[in-house]
Amino acid sequence: MITGWKNAVKMKKKYTVPDPKFICQAFDSISPRYDLLNQVLSFGMSESWRKRSARIILSEPGFSPKSILDLGCGTGKFLECFLRSRAWEHAVGVDFSSSMLQRARETIPGNVLWLQEDFEALPFLESSFDLIISGFTLRSVQKLPEFLGTVYRVLRPGGKAAFLDLTLPPHPLARMLCYPYLRFFLPIMGWLLSGNRAAYDFLSGSVRSFPPPENTIRLMKTVGFRECDSKCFAFGAATLIIGGKSLSES
Ligand SMILES: C[S@@+](CC[C@H](N)C(=O)[O-])C[C@H]1O[C@@H](n2cnc3c(N)ncnc32)[C@H](O)[C@@H]1O
Repeated sequence: MITGWKNAVKMKKKYTVPDPKFICQAFDSISPRYDLLNQVLSFGMSESWRKRSARIILSEPGFSPKSILDLGCGTGKFLECFLRSRAWEHAVGVDFSSSMLQRARETIPGNVLWLQEDFEALPFLESSFDLIISGFTLRSVQKLPEFLGTVYRVLRPGGKAAFLDLTLPPHPLARMLCYPYLRFFLPIMGWLLSGNRAAYDFLSGSVRSFPPPENTIRLMKTVGFRECDSKCFAFGAATLIIGGKSLSES
């Protein structure tokens, strides 16, 4: 029994990203209940993680972004936290799920361009945005180094990119407490409340096996990001990663 737990807590399983078609269909099918499920399954914390992330990013000294791009914007809840805080010259949300985008269009006020696109093939010119954000999407990315390279390319010199995602707490005790939640509670409740078992199996499996934030930061540095930093929420159950593009890149 103890050995089983030890193995479970190690969670060394290699991460494989599901097919994009599966991911898109999964989000299309859960879109009517996505926001409610997010709040229920995170015990109300997901919205506060988004808001705190927005506060942290926008309070960085000397950083005054005018354009923002949200990758995998879903129903627009992450972007909304930034829209509320200041006036933007350009705000764009990208997602490949038409149903998630439809909900964003219907519920998020403000002048936002909602685009149905694959965020791994972005249709933007180099240096187009001051701030690029992405919430709970890294585990859906097929080719992470290429994706981060594209984000870097589209970012203006002096701009920042920020990724908020679910992670495994680094402390073994917190990890052990998290395991039954991720392995059993999350997929079963997600299945019962959304009716889509495969979507919540994906969520549960991807959080358990996705490489830790340090790996993402290492990759970000490889593609050129500077001044990378991270902030843990709820003992590391979620992590915000921020990286900048230096002004000398102009
Ligand atoms: C977990 S949801 C996150 C939604 C939103 N960012 C939030 O904070 O709630 C992930 C979103 O990423 C989108 N997505 C995943 N892979 C994508 C891709 N390759 N291109 C565009 N959107 C993608 C999904 O359709 C889904 O809406």
